[in-house]
Amino acid sequence: MNKTKIIREVFNKIPSYYDIMNDAMSIGIHRIWKKQLVAKVDMINNGNYLDLATGSGDIATLLLEKNKFFNIDLTCADPDADMLNKAREKIINKGFIKKISFIKTEAENMPFEKDNFDIITLSFGLRNFSNIEQGLSEIFRTLKPRGTLYCLEFSPKVKHQIIQKAYNVYLNILPKIGKIMAKDQESYEYLAQSIKDFKKTEQIIDIMLNIGFDNVNVEALSGGICNIFTGQKNVH
Ligand SMILES: C[S@@+](CC[C@H](N)C(=O)[O-])C[C@H]1O[C@@H](n2cnc3c(N)ncnc32)[C@H](O)[C@@H]1O
Repeated sequence: MNKTKIIREVFNKIPSYYDIMNDAMSIGIHRIWKKQLVAKVDMINNGNYLDLATGSGDIATLLLEKNKFFNIDLTCADPDADMLNKAREKIINKGFIKKISFIKTEAENMPFEKDNFDIITLSFGLRNFSNIEQGLSEIFRTLKPRGTLYCLEFSPKVKHQIIQKAYNVYLNILPKIGKIMAKDQESYEYLAQSIKDFKKTEQIIDIMLNIGFDNVNVEALSGGICNIFTGQKNVH
């Protein structure tokens, strides 16, 4: 089975228990990482925002909360219709009435004009792209000049040996936690493996620079378990 098909199947099974499992598996830490990502994002009145690989809408919700007093357009995009429904539900339950659209698309081939978005956020989506270079090129194409990508993603390697050992143990038991809590060992085997197989931090930086991103920066979170990559579309 090719990567796109495996990923579609995994995320098609997950939506109903996605939020509960995220909390259980990260002991709530994913919420802190997501807040750290959104804290970095610029607030732009009348800004056009895209939350790509939106999943159940955590980042979209945080962006709306942060921009409470601003007029923004927000697009939530994901290839999985059930995930988009979860995101829609979460946003409606929070009472937001801003201009929000929900678009079913994968990153590698987005139905958006070039030079469209001021800000694109991408949280725990990049490693699921079937083609990382193509997805990042599409992000670059659809950003406005001087627009910025904010990307949160797990790292396959951390700097400190002790953290790396604990991290390896955790990735090995993750499928068992998935089996007990969600009766779905297979999907969590994929999730753990996708972290182990993900590109190194320096490789992601190289890809971004080759595509043409400027001001590429990486901030390591929790000893390097996660990274926030930022990059700006240059104006040349
Ligand atoms: C781990 S979830 C992350 C969801 C959310 N951003 C968060 O941080 O909680 C990954 C999401 O990426 C989506 N996804 C998978 N392949 C994708 C692709 N090629 N392009 C865009 N999104 C993709 C999945 O459908 C899923 O909703």
